[in-house]
Amino acid sequence: MFSLHEPTSGRTKKNKPNLPPGVFGIRALPYVSKLAKDPIGFFQLMHSKFGKSVRFGLRQVTFHLITQPEDMKRVLQENNQNYHKGVFYKELGRILGKGLLNSEGEFWKKQRKLIQPSFHKQRISEFVEIMAQETQKTSENWKKVSSLDISKEMMRLTFAIVGRTLFRTEVESYAARIEHSLKIALELVTKRITRIFPFPFSWPTPENLKLKRALKDMHSVVDELIAERKKNPSNDLISMLLEVRDEETGETMSEAQVRDEAITLLLAGHETTANALSWGFYLLSKHPEICEKVREEATKVLGDKTPSLEDVQKLTYTRKVLDEVLRLYPPAWVIERTAMGPDQIGGYDVETGTNISICIFNIHRNPDFWENPDKFDPDRFDEERSVDRPKYAYLPFGGGPRICIGNIFALTEATLILAMLVKNYKFQTDPNHPVVMEPLVTLRAKYGILLNIVST
Ligand code: HEM
Repeated sequence: MFSLHEPTSGRTKKNKPNLPPGVFGIRALPYVSKLAKDPIGFFQLMHSKFGKSVRFGLRQVTFHLITQPEDMKRVLQENNQNYHKGVFYKELGRILGKGLLNSEGEFWKKQRKLIQPSFHKQRISEFVEIMAQETQKTSENWKKVSSLDISKEMMRLTFAIVGRTLFRTEVESYAARIEHSLKIALELVTKRITRIFPFPFSWPTPENLKLKRALKDMHSVVDELIAERKKNPSNDLISMLLEVRDEETGETMSEAQVRDEAITLLLAGHETTANALSWGFYLLSKHPEICEKVREEATKVLGDKTPSLEDVQKLTYTRKVLDEVLRLYPPAWVIERTAMGPDQIGGYDVETGTNISICIFNIHRNPDFWENPDKFDPDRFDEERSVDRPKYAYLPFGGGPRICIGNIFALTEATLILAMLVKNYKFQTDPNHPVVMEPLVTLRAKYGILLNIVST
């Protein structure tokens, strides 16, 4: 969330920049602990206390919080070339290397163009079969249990799906090895991100050494898989990445780049969707009448057959439920950028090096754009109730050219999983188990979400 760049104004006193109100330097100190403990509450406080644009920072750490849809549009779309991913992504880069999520400029553009076809409708339609098979397996397994941690279950299920679509491998041991090292790496990188002053990565601290080991293990497994796919191409994403050629130069991607892209898709492609689904089952367990409507639709549309992409597209009510889940609990709850050059946003100057924060969670609950913002009301996504809403008041997948490449994949997968499992099971929250949001890299449930389940 922080950039360690010092803002450089390059202006004379006469030409003083017009910066947003806020707190800076010593006056900011009392707020720092709130930021660390409750970042969403902190952003809300800054907005209500100082207004639509807020500047906040300690000596070397400055950010400019924006809260209005038109300002988000400026950063993510209109002037997107001026805004690069910030330090948060640099830390993630230890895992993702130069993968799509955190590459920049011409290199990013070239990679995006190469990878985009892997997410076209035709490909997604092929992936639906895998999504349905894995969900069916989960549904079978649930027959043997009466309660479960839905967060863990969804993490396992979405990992299995993205693993199979990426690697189309029957060898489950590969998945287990990657999952293990990825989990360790993500935990340790998250710790580094949430510390204001993490130890330099070159220091041989126990955590740094553990992180380096996990990264090495992960790379060696993915490298093995790439070598295997080079020998025996399949119709999976890895084979596609290996084959794809730049239209102008005819060059293929290097193996190291294929590895970075594969790890990026593996990570970005399961954690967020798993969080959305966990919050979705939680909300449905609290709203049995909405859950019943999902069940009715799923029973009518899916019956007992294995769903196809066309079937998923008919699940219009389930899709509205999902849109509403993504509004109330956006897995990517904050987006961060660094200004590469000066700009103007919302009537204020933005100086080079300033860190821009977009709190997606808060804009999704802003009463200026949402009626009864805390209410779980899937019908608010009916067309007639959506026409007057600014586009950038709803951005669970970000916006502009860097919008999530996997958004259709994720929406298809999550709609299918919700429908198939709600069709077969009823859910109740465990009253003794606290459900608490934990906004780290993604918006997780701090202690997981325990649900009691019974077959329908
Ligand atoms: C509900 C599920 C998901 C949510 C909420 C989500 C959210 C997002 C957001 C907000 C961004 C933009 C980040 C930014 O602008 O800084 C993003 C980018 C990205 N997502 Fe997703 N995502 C989801 C699922 C997926 C899936 C399933 C995949 C792949 C299989 C994926 C792959 C990516 C990649 C590669 C990027 C970087 C795109 C680029 O910069 O060109 N995501 N995602």
